[in-house]
Amino acid sequence: MSGNQKLWGGRFAESTSALVEQFSESVSFDARLYRQDIRGSQAHARMLGKVGVLSAQDVEKIVAGLEAILAEIEAGTFEWSEKLEDVHMNIEARLTERIGDAGKRLHTGRSRNDQVATDLRLYVRDVIDELLILIDRVADGLLDLAEREAETVMPGFTHLQIAQPVTFGHHMLAWREQMLRDRSRLVDARRRLNLLPLGAAALAGTVYPIDRHYVAELLGFDGVTENSLDTVSDRDFAIEFCAAASLILVHLSRWSEELILWSTPMFGFVNLPDRFCTGSSIMPQKKNPDVPELVRGKTGRVIGNLNALLVLMKGQPLAYNRDNQEDKPPLFDTVDTVSICLSVYAEMIPAIEVRRDHCRAAAAKGFSTATDLADYLVRKGLPFRDAHHAVGSTVAFAQQKGCDIAELSLAELRQFSDLIGEDVYACITLEGSLNARDHYGATSPKQVRAAIARARAAKKEA
Ligand code: ARG
Repeated sequence: MSGNQKLWGGRFAESTSALVEQFSESVSFDARLYRQDIRGSQAHARMLGKVGVLSAQDVEKIVAGLEAILAEIEAGTFEWSEKLEDVHMNIEARLTERIGDAGKRLHTGRSRNDQVATDLRLYVRDVIDELLILIDRVADGLLDLAEREAETVMPGFTHLQIAQPVTFGHHMLAWREQMLRDRSRLVDARRRLNLLPLGAAALAGTVYPIDRHYVAELLGFDGVTENSLDTVSDRDFAIEFCAAASLILVHLSRWSEELILWSTPMFGFVNLPDRFCTGSSIMPQKKNPDVPELVRGKTGRVIGNLNALLVLMKGQPLAYNRDNQEDKPPLFDTVDTVSICLSVYAEMIPAIEVRRDHCRAAAAKGFSTATDLADYLVRKGLPFRDAHHAVGSTVAFAQQKGCDIAELSLAELRQFSDLIGEDVYACITLEGSLNARDHYGATSPKQVRAAIARARAAKKEA
């Protein structure tokens, strides 16, 4: 058979090899852009009508035809064809099938290169709006948990060694800060991507008297992109999104690591309800923290996706190259992964059971108020370095005796400095240590409550 039946087949002497068709199709994954593709095409058609390139009649047919196709796709009756390559040509071909010549006029003044750039920006924008809702659920859950555990003493760690007492609420507010930065990164990426690519056409613009600003307005873009060559080749917005998503997962992965440790009998700080855990097929006693483990594991995939996009772009000359089609699998995988991970965390956070007695016992065991004893001696006039040394000896003594420094008698403590008096106990108890850290951003229950109040006020304002 001679010729080629593709939408672009006019200059071809033979049809595409079946293997090449299978190799180059993208509809198996880009079909998920159908909503954005239809929205973009409807706006393009309306604009062509407004500037007089299409008749009002054709515009109405196109807009209604696309609406009917949208319904077909959502009903599952649309027949996707690999032979039609991608989402764009599948929908266009079906439109022509439904409405005839008007359908063939839709592609006037545009190219798939600016079409796919438009679809992708709309898609990432939609995704960001959905993720912001999930992030808020996670952040709100942390705020409530922080409030519930504002007074709960636990050891704070550096080098994963017990360092100083902190409140569990303070720790949850630390997690929340990470989420708030993630939120602002997404908002920032959304603002930067929200410019209309359509009109760049294949790479150089188009000969038709198009009105890009009108299309931008119809599609809710804040403006139009500046340079047609840059527009069809730019995937920075997808990379920025994947970078922001990677950081979200890096944060969730760090929380996961903590929850996994905390739910072991050695720590025993939290209990994850059974519905978030699974058992072992051989060891009957096991209850495994699979949800946090999977989040930690999936983080690797999402970081890999970011890397894939960076490497995808690094060798590309201007303007559009077919390489760009490969942006979608990593982008879509990132979207799916980050949204399911945020969803499970949103569900799991309010369900975390804190074992206050175990948290407290761990803080009491680890000499976590040693710094407070040193600070006490400094207040009595000892230089900090000397105080540090004296407390080091005190800790060694208590360790040998098998008790905490707060359990030593006054006589025992005074072996290490005669500056120590009865008032020392108010400083080296867990509560004494916590309450002494009483400034903006610190861990005392009072400051944690103040931070929660600020967060609630800021939420009301937003
Ligand atoms: N499926 C393509 C993509 O995802 C659409 C653009 C194709 N353009 C082209 N000149 N072949 O990038």
